[in-house]
Amino acid sequence: MARRKIIAGNWKMNKTPSEAKELVNTLKPLVENPDVDVVYCVPAIDIVPVGEAIRGTNVQLGAENMSDQDKGAYTGEISADMLLDAGVKFVIIGHSERRGYYHEDDAFLNRKVLKAFEKGLTPILCCGESLEQREAGVTLDWIRLQIKSDLQGVTAEQAKTMVIAYEPIWAIGTGKTATADQAEEVCGAIRSTIAEIYDTDTAEAIRIQYGGSMNAGNCKELLAKPDIDGGLIGGAALKPDFGKIVNYNKD
Ligand code: PGA
Repeated sequence: MARRKIIAGNWKMNKTPSEAKELVNTLKPLVENPDVDVVYCVPAIDIVPVGEAIRGTNVQLGAENMSDQDKGAYTGEISADMLLDAGVKFVIIGHSERRGYYHEDDAFLNRKVLKAFEKGLTPILCCGESLEQREAGVTLDWIRLQIKSDLQGVTAEQAKTMVIAYEPIWAIGTGKTATADQAEEVCGAIRSTIAEIYDTDTAEAIRIQYGGSMNAGNCKELLAKPDIDGGLIGGAALKPDFGKIVNYNKD
């Protein structure tokens, strides 16, 4: 069965609650495409207003981060139950900005992935290599290590429902996109890794996104690749361009 494409915006630390509502309203007529799942992963403080603003549309709600703990004395953290109660379905886990700036390691991210599944949220698990790693020729080894570490204890049935985002760090926010062939090579290697950990059924079901300077101009070529099932979009998710990416299959 063909995998359904999933285009997710990662708003990062952009848009106040009132700006967020405005952006949702601007994008509303542009992001209708019955062939594609559309998700807005928004800052925690925007989750409630965006949830209200997307009501009755095709857009689903996502968070950019989540605690690995259930509740209690964790100042500043947001739990899975809080996200669920606010209508969140997806949660980004292990974005390179969280791995890099906030030192989130694979053991910690594995706990978050397990927590998301336990509570019924769909993880969008990010992985990706630095420029140094790409130049040293260790990209595929590195990605395999990230995936295998972050999915410890995840069952095949759970893995089938999740999303993995391949985001080369050198392509994020830099305007330097991986070529469609480079992106396909790694997304294919991720699928093979999933087949190795689980089985081919799981590998065929899991959705793998590319992220890193995807825009209205390059999305068509990237999304045409057999192992690229969608995009995780940063900068272009804040502009009407996002509608063009969602409608990549229309002329
Ligand atoms: P970008 O960000 O599209 O601005 O490169 C992608 C991401 O970091 O998810």
